Amino acid sequence: MPTAFPLPDPALADRLSERLARVDAALAEAVASADALADDAGRHLVTAGGKRFRPLLTLLAGELGDGTRPELVDAAVVVELTQVASLYHDDVMDSAPVRRGAPAVHTVWGNSVAILVGDLLFSRASALVAGLGPEAVVLQSRTFERMCLGQLHETLGPRDGEDPVAHYLQVLSDKTASLLATSAQLGAMFGGCDDTVVGAVAAYGEKVGVAFQLADDVLDIASTGDESGKTPGTDLREHVPTMPVLLLRQRVARGEGTAEDAALLARLDADLSDDATLAAAVADLRSHDALAATRELAVRWAREAAAELEPLPDGPVKQALADLATALADRAA
Ligand code: IPE
Ligand code: IPE
Ligand code: MG
Ligand code: MG
Repeated sequence: MPTAFPLPDPALADRLSERLARVDAALAEAVASADALADDAGRHLVTAGGKRFRPLLTLLAGELGDGTRPELVDAAVVVELTQVASLYHDDVMDSAPVRRGAPAVHTVWGNSVAILVGDLLFSRASALVAGLGPEAVVLQSRTFERMCLGQLHETLGPRDGEDPVAHYLQVLSDKTASLLATSAQLGAMFGGCDDTVVGAVAAYGEKVGVAFQLADDVLDIASTGDESGKTPGTDLREHVPTMPVLLLRQRVARGEGTAEDAALLARLDADLSDDATLAAAVADLRSHDALAATRELAVRWAREAAAELEPLPDGPVKQALADLATALADRAA
């Protein structure tokens, strides 16, 4: 299967496509259940699609060592299962109607099924990671903890006196970047790379993850649903914090905003359940420089991610990782 991201080296692209197809076959097996409802609900998002970005990172980092090792396929399945399970829960928390171009699980089967089947998929990831040994188990559980903490802190918001933008960057690191860092780290580990390489790709994954989630925040406002497979404006409607709104809020709080800025912020904080009201707020935020500032921030994090690759040997894999960082930030362009 072709990857959703550019891989200019044809030999590398062929090897990764072939292995991603193996990951997909293993994923289909990993989400199957004897119970008919668990089977239907458990397959739902894996079948619907997705970019498979985390498995790609694992396989690509594995190529820095021996990319043919079979553990790499299992590690790639573990990170995608963790991703998919978190989406089951995230769509409940965000009341998101569409995911991967398909109805979100909770809209088909209800919240309880979405939560329980999400847990079931986490348990499948745990069973699989156990076969990779204690180091991988500890890494996966620490990642899972960070994802939960990220979601928790997103829900609770900053403490009194805490800078909301700094708080939010920590949320992004925990809820999203942690799994991207682990995806890359497991790849380098099971490719048999030395500690310097493992550390470099983990640091890269952590920063690329922040760039990725900042781009996702831009896409909630700037994309059409067809491109993203999600419903634009979902975060705004639910008043889930995103960087463009936080930057606008920061500007108004510092007294640096115009009267229009303050008015837009008041509209964003009000009830957005009416479709036309939401569409108008989305349109105004789309042309606001807080959105452009978020894009710039994503580009900056992607550049810093690429700088972490410095210790890696030059070659097509290092180039592909650098290109990937650029492509992620460009999603928001
Ligand atoms: C969605 O991740 C959740 C975020 C961390 C933004 P992706 O945008 O990678 O979603 P899929 O896996 O392609 O569906
Ligand atoms: C998703 O964050 C993070 C996790 C699934 C852990 P978001 O809620 O921002 O992602 P999307 O936009 O719904 O994909
Ligand atoms: Mg969310
Ligand atoms: Mg969400």
